[in-house]
Amino acid sequence: MKHILSASQFTKEDLENILSRAEEMEEQCKSGKVKKLLIDKIVACMFFEPSTRTRLSFETAAIRLGAQVISAENAMENSSAYKGESIEDTSKILSCYADVVVVRHPKAQVVDQMAKVAFVPMINAGDGANQHPSQGLLDLYTIKKEHGRLNNLQIAFGGDLLNSRTLRSMMPLLRLYEGNTFYFVSPKELSLPVEYLNELTSAGIPFKEAQSLEEILPLVDVLYMTRVQKERFADGNEYDKVKDLFILKHDHMKTLKKEAIIMHPLPKINEIEAEVDNDPRAAYFRQAQNGLYVRMALFLYVFGL
Ligand code: NCD
Repeated sequence: MKHILSASQFTKEDLENILSRAEEMEEQCKSGKVKKLLIDKIVACMFFEPSTRTRLSFETAAIRLGAQVISAENAMENSSAYKGESIEDTSKILSCYADVVVVRHPKAQVVDQMAKVAFVPMINAGDGANQHPSQGLLDLYTIKKEHGRLNNLQIAFGGDLLNSRTLRSMMPLLRLYEGNTFYFVSPKELSLPVEYLNELTSAGIPFKEAQSLEEILPLVDVLYMTRVQKERFADGNEYDKVKDLFILKHDHMKTLKKEAIIMHPLPKINEIEAEVDNDPRAAYFRQAQNGLYVRMALFLYVFGL
């Protein structure tokens, strides 16, 4: 039984198999000839935290492949979690009905806890600030599609790096490739924890921390912006202090390389000026679309199909 709990569980071979399967899914979707390989399967989506893209693209992926979907959005209030049921019991119950369960939860490691007692595969669709492996996969799919390679790239992450589970899911995958250099640009309060940077240093992976977007824009092939994760702040005033410190402006586009791309897992709030959307280098809507193909491929991987 294959659970999908963390991006670091994938070998380079797994990753490349999933990415090429996703390409196949993209072709099948575009030609309107998707093979219904998941007929008779039931996919459960339990979202204890809000989601637009992740839940709806997992559900679309399932339906496109012929599966049926059972779903609890707002599961914190609309499932027995509200009555105090343990997450382990919920996991066992979902295992009785569905063939695979996709879960998002505000607390780190909860999906691991569910997987320990589940009888069917669990897919982590985001657990607190910890992991979001399907997002990491779709981000790599996007870079490969846009740049034609996953190595020898200058990749910058901007925004809330302290709380970004998407960054934590991309990094183990990008580290499977040679020659990449990383730039981390964030307000001091939202910078990557030092243990994380120490780990990169000991693995001999080149990186640089920068204080401003201006410093790194002319250098990068990929600029990955992130949202300040309001829901991870205990104090609203602290959020207000940092929420608008890093904004990618239309004016910045002049200094960005012609072949660079701007990514964002979305939703974007204030961190990218709306005019940037019209620049062909803004890849975030294409990135969201890729989520569908990658999640189709991920279901096939989980079922060994
Ligand atoms: C991200 C998430 O939920 O971690 N969104 C997504 O899944 N596309 C990023 C975010 O919410 O900021």
